[in-house]
Amino acid sequence: MKDMTISNGVNLDKIQKTALKDIEKAADEGALKLLKIKYLGRKGKLTEILRELKNLGIKERADVGEKANLLRQKLEENFSEKEKSLRARTKKSAISEEKIDVTLPGKKALIGHLHPLTKIRNEAEEIFTALGFTVAEGPEMETEHYNFDALNIPADHPAREMWDTFWIDEIGAAKGKKFLLRTHTSPVQIRYMERHQPPIRIIAPGRVFRYEATDATHETQFYQLEGLMVDKKTNLANLKAIIKNFLQEFFGDKNMEIRFRPSYFPFVEPGVEVDMKFNGKWMEIAGAGMVHPRVLENVKLDSRAYQGFAFGAGLDRLAMIKYKIDDVRLFYSGDLRFIRQF
Ligand code: FA5
Repeated sequence: MKDMTISNGVNLDKIQKTALKDIEKAADEGALKLLKIKYLGRKGKLTEILRELKNLGIKERADVGEKANLLRQKLEENFSEKEKSLRARTKKSAISEEKIDVTLPGKKALIGHLHPLTKIRNEAEEIFTALGFTVAEGPEMETEHYNFDALNIPADHPAREMWDTFWIDEIGAAKGKKFLLRTHTSPVQIRYMERHQPPIRIIAPGRVFRYEATDATHETQFYQLEGLMVDKKTNLANLKAIIKNFLQEFFGDKNMEIRFRPSYFPFVEPGVEVDMKFNGKWMEIAGAGMVHPRVLENVKLDSRAYQGFAFGAGLDRLAMIKYKIDDVRLFYSGDLRFIRQF
């Protein structure tokens, strides 16, 4: 093709050659942008030529015009291709910069674990289920009937003072019943016996609440593990054997010191308290006894045909002995330095 020289002496073929070379060599997107302005911008070389067209003769104007437009098209295509390839290269290098350096020390992931009281509860459940007991549950908000009356603790009985608690007046008034936060897991005995016939072998672990001053062995909320066995020839020796068996298994120690001493609970007869040696002192871990005949009658069981034993152990106290913790309040402190030790 013949060279087209116009008044300012710029040669289109020459522009094409240098422009294509420049585009080819552009090192990054910034440099390419500058080149685009240089060649195709409003003050660019090509625009300048197109602007000069009006000074040419008709024939020359048509030839140069056509050639200049073809060149504009060609350059635009080249720019856009080069843009694409530069962009792809930037992306690729960004990805390769993100590469994982396997030699760097890793970040330790914080993994949670079960609360010590949950662990204790699980362990106790395992031992009792191996002894043939089923796990039962009851509500934490109870009625006065299940927490007291059905357990042979009438309204004016002094034993109610042993279990001062939190009463939920508004709900109670609305339903015509008196509701409270259960003071022990013993109401589950009643709920279960109402729905099941002997032979009965259950444990009922759960949270209980008391309105009392806290100290190293007393909390206002804590966990108990209720046990109940009802059958035709259940006796006190069975109770002692089961409790001893459980404690030996739980502490993995056949020689730990435990004692039973006579005690009083309105829902058992006779009643005992189970103590364990901890830090050289006796600590009460459970109340127990033979189910009172009146409690059996309350759930329509023939107390001459059936006998039962029951116990209520303090799970927090068992955990304290097992982990050598001298203050029950630590379990509820939310102090991670304490919790992370388990
Ligand atoms: C009772 O609650 C009876 N329901 C237990 C029972 C069940 C007796 C079945 C007979 C038959 P007591 O109030 O003693 O009993 O509590 C039982 C156990 O819970 C105690 O031995 C103790 O280990 C634990 N415990 C009692 N009060 C607290 C407290 N404030 N903080 C932590 N543990 C407690």
